[in-house]
Amino acid sequence: MKLSKFIKKAGMMITSLALVSSLAACSPTTRGGENVTSSLKEGDLIGISMPTKADQRWNVDGGNLVKELEAAGFKTQLAYANNSPSQQSTDINNLVSSGAKAIVVASVDGTAVGPAVQQAKDEGATVIAYDRLIMNTEAVDYYVTFDLERTGILEAETIIEKLDLENGGGKDTPYNIALFAGSDDDNNAPYFFKGAWDLLQPYFESGQLVDPSGIVTKDFKLEDWKKISVHAWDQTQAQKQMDAIMTKLGDQPLAAVLSPYDAISLGVMKSIKNARPDMSPSIPFDATNPTNKSAWPVITGQDGMDIAITNIYYGAQAQTVYKNVSLLAEQTTNIIKEISEGKTPSSDKEPMNNGKKDVPTWLMQSDELVKEPTGDQKGLDYVVETGFITEEQYQKNIKAPIIE
Ligand code: BGC
Repeated sequence: MKLSKFIKKAGMMITSLALVSSLAACSPTTRGGENVTSSLKEGDLIGISMPTKADQRWNVDGGNLVKELEAAGFKTQLAYANNSPSQQSTDINNLVSSGAKAIVVASVDGTAVGPAVQQAKDEGATVIAYDRLIMNTEAVDYYVTFDLERTGILEAETIIEKLDLENGGGKDTPYNIALFAGSDDDNNAPYFFKGAWDLLQPYFESGQLVDPSGIVTKDFKLEDWKKISVHAWDQTQAQKQMDAIMTKLGDQPLAAVLSPYDAISLGVMKSIKNARPDMSPSIPFDATNPTNKSAWPVITGQDGMDIAITNIYYGAQAQTVYKNVSLLAEQTTNIIKEISEGKTPSSDKEPMNNGKKDVPTWLMQSDELVKEPTGDQKGLDYVVETGFITEEQYQKNIKAPIIE
């Protein structure tokens, strides 16, 4: 890693520590003032509430959790909420009625799910927030996720490198960049954006980067992230937002798009194809010839979805931040196992505050996947190595046509 990158990374870690407050003692669960002790034991039912089947990763997450928990001697019940907050509350109520002694929740809307998990807690269930933090409630016991800012850091580093910003790229004629943040109801989204914005903002300050929509300027604040968010991480919505940016862009070149999720990247690509058929992934953005209007922008992503593997393979997407989600399922199972053995799970990481309490938190490490890896990056077939997809599916992905 370059020294400048190392210094930036170290700086980021300090900033992230400042984001969270110190560990509070785990408070016992209370119902009407009286303590409710978790009765979780081996063989019990564990309820799993996932947001949607429409996203590739949550299908893998659900399957992994069932597999790990059952191998550890628990029963499981898995529900998908079709991206509907009210459906998710119903799912959680049903899981608890079925006798779940712990519930693992990847929330659709981190705040809306509060009352349902409170009810689960009142019934004595342990509540584990999975990947996405459950907000503004005391009723969440543990949180397992990935290092959130790292997503944005890896995305921004790719943009900085490909645009040669450290060596003055964009100094003569500013480079156009479009920026997207994740869903406004997902607590992960501002952390992803923070990781990226801390690194990209100085290039807005120096005038090397400009947002053609005019929404993001050097004075854009982290708190403003919802102005560029994509509700429900929705591809069609992303495409609409990109259409508006493309209108402002007109016939100028576009150097990069900061996208926090592979499906958003796909919506972005479709919009570019419609608005500017002259732009083609076969002419990748080249910092030595940045005024080429037909050059395809550097587009980032997250999750290692099938479509991203295809698009990276053919040069339409520059990278994806891949989360080996089997690590989350293993950590979640460890927590549940420890509780069933009468132990108190403890993490050596800083807790995350959900607005009501400091929630004990475990952070996994994500990886950056690119076509030709260097340094710490991984190749595209890492998704097979880590069991996210099969070799057969991988072969299909790299033979599929791009941007359908
Ligand atoms: C997850 C990401 C995912 C996104 C959209 C986020 O909460 O952390 O991995 O890309 O949701 O599903």
